[in-house]
Amino acid sequence: MNKFLMEPFKIKSIEHIKITIKDERITALKKANYNLFNLPADMVMIDLLTDSGTGAMSDNQWAAIMTGDESYANSKSFLNLTDIVNEIFGYKYFLPVHQGRAAEGILSTIMIKKGSLIPSNNHFDTTAANIIVCEGTPINLVQETNVDESFKGNIDINKLDNFLNENNDKVPYCMVTITNNAGGGQPVSLDNIEKIYNTCKKYNKMLFIDACRFAENAWFIKKKETTYNNWTILDIVKKIFSFSDGATFSAKKDAIVNIGGLLLMNDENLFKKATNELIIREGFTSYGGLSGRDINAMAVGLLEGCQEDYLAYRTGQIQFLHDKLVKANIPLISPPGGHAIYIDAGKILSHIPSNNFPAQAFSLECYIEGGIRSVEVGSVMLSFISPETKEIVRPKLELVRFALPRRTYTHSHLLYVIDIIIKVSKRAKEIKGIKIIDQPKLLRHFSASFDWIN
Ligand code: F0G
Repeated sequence: MNKFLMEPFKIKSIEHIKITIKDERITALKKANYNLFNLPADMVMIDLLTDSGTGAMSDNQWAAIMTGDESYANSKSFLNLTDIVNEIFGYKYFLPVHQGRAAEGILSTIMIKKGSLIPSNNHFDTTAANIIVCEGTPINLVQETNVDESFKGNIDINKLDNFLNENNDKVPYCMVTITNNAGGGQPVSLDNIEKIYNTCKKYNKMLFIDACRFAENAWFIKKKETTYNNWTILDIVKKIFSFSDGATFSAKKDAIVNIGGLLLMNDENLFKKATNELIIREGFTSYGGLSGRDINAMAVGLLEGCQEDYLAYRTGQIQFLHDKLVKANIPLISPPGGHAIYIDAGKILSHIPSNNFPAQAFSLECYIEGGIRSVEVGSVMLSFISPETKEIVRPKLELVRFALPRRTYTHSHLLYVIDIIIKVSKRAKEIKGIKIIDQPKLLRHFSASFDWIN
């Protein structure tokens, strides 16, 4: 193993970063009502808000953009995509959609009725929202006891079995998210995926995979699950999908495109229903809300996202950030997942109670200190009012996610990020809590206004 993990690409086109100073950032933040989603992107120097749609496409993907076929029906681009989707996923049917949540919306609409329960390890927030909109309830069954440290995204199989046993009539299908974004971006083992599938079959339920980061998950399987050490990523990926009945996929992650997604499945009747929904909401079956060029770029990106040199570099960047911060005694989720580090701001800012949003405060301070945009994954994003007790239920941890866009930031950008996070942590005691000034009913983190507490 080389001492330095070199980026397996060189740079052909660059995007300028506007270098700002602290006073400019303080003013910009005030104007944005202390919500990082409201900042103009050019006031951000390193944007780690998300790894979704923010990656850099390759020269081959840009070439595919130029050769995209914009025919309404059955374009060359769609036939290209079909070959590659069949090779990677192996389901009988698929539909292109404009992004992951469109696939989730269609699946929920055709499968869920009032009172349905949908188990998963952890549902991502758009998946959960799509279930709730259809009057179903998302259920999270990620392992909490006897945790497999290598695969912290695994579902607790006993819990799943008991849940299906007790609620058989109410469960139209089950899900598993790979990697488990809402649970620290942690991977799920192939052994667990097989057991989830077998448990679903025992109760005659379909299993859908939220496959946003399937290639990163496959990389962890190759590295950490001894049976698969010598398997190719593509073979592991095929094996993963063989233990399921369908998938939702946001191509903005592991297909390294700026827009796109897929809904995939084996059941013919379900596919017919999904096709109707797609045509109403997204477009014809061969473009689903995308242009031909987007579809062409997705086809190329799907294969690039499965390359081993790329995956070693990609997960290596996250590991590097994680290891340097651990060395500096910054508390964070370990081991790291594939796309982000999650800093435990509740621990760093232990003087700020959760109702004064320590993770939001930490995230704002990282922007002020160094122009880095991250996202709060704590009491702002995840707390809710219990329908039973009418009390506020808060998440266990107050985290800040720093998600790395794919192929976008270099090693020196990472060194800069590490430096800023350490600087902010060193002045933790001076950092004040946050109050909410105004908020919407649902998904408040996107648009709420905040201010510091005096
Ligand atoms: N599922 C997971 C696990 C996700 O991480 C996301 C998006 C989606 C579904 C929805 O996909 O955005 O294409 O509609 N995650 C982004 C993030 C937004 O920042 O983690 P989409």
